[in-house]
Amino acid sequence: MKTARDERVSEAEIAVHWQEEEYYQPPVPFIKQANLADPAIYERFAPERFPACFAEYAELLDWYRRWDTVLDSSHPPFWRWFVGGRLNASYNCIDRHLARFKNKAALHFVPEPEDEPIHHVTYQELSYRVNEFATLLREVARVKKGDRVTLHLPMVAELPIAMLACARIGAIHSQVFSGYSAKSLADRIIDAGSSVLITMDAYYRGGRLLDHKAGADQAVELAENGGQRIEKVLVWERYPGRYSSKAPLVEGRDCLVNEMLKGYHGCRVKPEESAAEDPLFLMYTSGTTGRPKGCQHSTGGYLSYVTGTAKYVEDIHPEDVYWCMADIGWITGHSYIVYGPLALAASVVIYEGLPTWPDAGRPWRIAQELDVNIFHTSPTAIRGLRRAGPDEPAKYDYHFKLMTTVGEAIEPEVWRWYHDVVGKGEAVIVDTWWQTETGGFLTSTMPAIHPMKPGSTGPAMPGIYPVILDDEGREIPEGSGRAGNICISNPWPGCFQTIWKDPGRFVAQYYARYCRDPESTDWRDWPYMSGDGAMQGEDGYYRILGRIDDVINVAGHRLGAKEIESAALSVAEVAEAAVVPVADEIKGRMPELYVSLKPGFTPGEDVRQRVTAAVTAEIGPFARPKQVIMVPDMPKTRSGKIMRRVLAALSNGEDPGDVTTLANPEVVEEIRQIRNALSG
Ligand code: PRX
Repeated sequence: MKTARDERVSEAEIAVHWQEEEYYQPPVPFIKQANLADPAIYERFAPERFPACFAEYAELLDWYRRWDTVLDSSHPPFWRWFVGGRLNASYNCIDRHLARFKNKAALHFVPEPEDEPIHHVTYQELSYRVNEFATLLREVARVKKGDRVTLHLPMVAELPIAMLACARIGAIHSQVFSGYSAKSLADRIIDAGSSVLITMDAYYRGGRLLDHKAGADQAVELAENGGQRIEKVLVWERYPGRYSSKAPLVEGRDCLVNEMLKGYHGCRVKPEESAAEDPLFLMYTSGTTGRPKGCQHSTGGYLSYVTGTAKYVEDIHPEDVYWCMADIGWITGHSYIVYGPLALAASVVIYEGLPTWPDAGRPWRIAQELDVNIFHTSPTAIRGLRRAGPDEPAKYDYHFKLMTTVGEAIEPEVWRWYHDVVGKGEAVIVDTWWQTETGGFLTSTMPAIHPMKPGSTGPAMPGIYPVILDDEGREIPEGSGRAGNICISNPWPGCFQTIWKDPGRFVAQYYARYCRDPESTDWRDWPYMSGDGAMQGEDGYYRILGRIDDVINVAGHRLGAKEIESAALSVAEVAEAAVVPVADEIKGRMPELYVSLKPGFTPGEDVRQRVTAAVTAEIGPFARPKQVIMVPDMPKTRSGKIMRRVLAALSNGEDPGDVTTLANPEVVEEIRQIRNALSG
């Protein structure tokens, strides 16, 4: 199991490991039916064809007006794609499919309770529901083009319906993962400046019907204290007509959507003809500082990129039943549950609950019942399913042609279980590396073109030209197997446009470090810095080694170290807090939190519990630390900086290296003993 410090500690070891993995060839039946089996695509997307090559993706969409310019790069790094083009995302995901596919399922909503029937929503019904809800957004919530609408919806069909309704009227949606706390939701409402919140009364998770609306009420109050008033809360009901939350409805502010929709039966909304450059949505992600960043994605560039990559990498045809187990609250769900697959007229599965509920056979029963043939998930979910039911897949009659893995590096051993047992040796696997910021895949094998290699994400996508740079900005030679910071040397249509309301931070965080000349208007001087360490093998395949900044990737979700630390510091006794990633068998990595107390306080179980509670309340249960370790002092440099690197080594049983230059080297051994005693 590798740790977050891979890029620093074990380059040599990884290089050896790299050589060991053998290739797997894609099965012939897959190649025969693939959307893309001709390597000529790499010629069409060759550097000399940039940026015009990306028109190939834009042409997969329907435009009201064709673009005049493929890429306007005159104001780096604020790239503008398909300038002059006009389109609507909901039209591309719904209306244009009706002539051929109106009777085909667009969504299969699978409730967590296994005795509840699956809801099949045809493209025709999706069209009706999106139009009616879009009308309600306009008429009841007074939403206009360009307004930000915050969504805090669980995994239900109403989530893509609400997103597409926003897109239809040109409103910018900001879906906040349903597992986020009221505080995190409020922070995102304030930052986006939303006055409308869409939520649901309740949803199932792990066999329990969770009260979800209560969190919305708290968030609205917190947002108001923070200066952002929510005028309308639109509440869907998990069981229409049977309000399932204990939180009362606030007169004048809260509306029961299912009830109100009865008054909008059959209402249609003409799709807004948005400019390619108009924002489609915000997706908040963690960064190095405490404040989450609202990544702003465009309509034309983003939709083109996710449609093209979903078509070629995920091999989606309209005949396919596609199931991505991610949550739509993360970028994976936006790009590869909603926008990419629906633009390609796929039938998309939306599963409400836990993959292991009521047992580890559940995903395979769903796959069998719906005849799912494309499956998409994360290494964390694969590890969890493997532990809970290693022999379950064989009991069910389903057949995947393609499986995706995303979010973190997958260990070759886990990859092989995924391939042999889940995929029954019949499915191609694509390991896709990308980020919230990048909109879509950056590296992956092309499933009918390249052999797979466990643990490697494969070469760069067509038209994407990565460079691996060392700390001084020197290029690490291609294929040398040496690690460095992976950057993308050219713009691409899926890249986010800016950080909402913070263009300065956008430039500082992603471009400033490796920009060759801040005055330059040549895109070649502005490589995009991903913040990941990586190396490239001789075969051109990239291996991603993890974050180089203070971001912890937990189960494929990014958490900022500062977010967790500031939650810990809200406990009165805590003087200092430092969080590090620790290897975990299932989740890949989990946060482990070190705290020191103010003078006069003694460490005890009570403080430890309150620190954990503070993290859960401020961020959400998915951020819960694996352990809270109370230490007399933090290892610090002479200038007083906490050395998270030393703590990370202790947490992962590694050698912290030379600590003699620290201001307090003796504390390192003391911390090691405290931690060992705790871990028993
Ligand atoms: O460190 C990389 C890791 O996840 C980060 C992006 O997280 P997020 O923005 O939440 O998006 C997750 C879904 C795209 C990256 O900076 N990561 C993502 N995919 C992989 C990966 N690490 C290794 N292999 C991958 N396939």
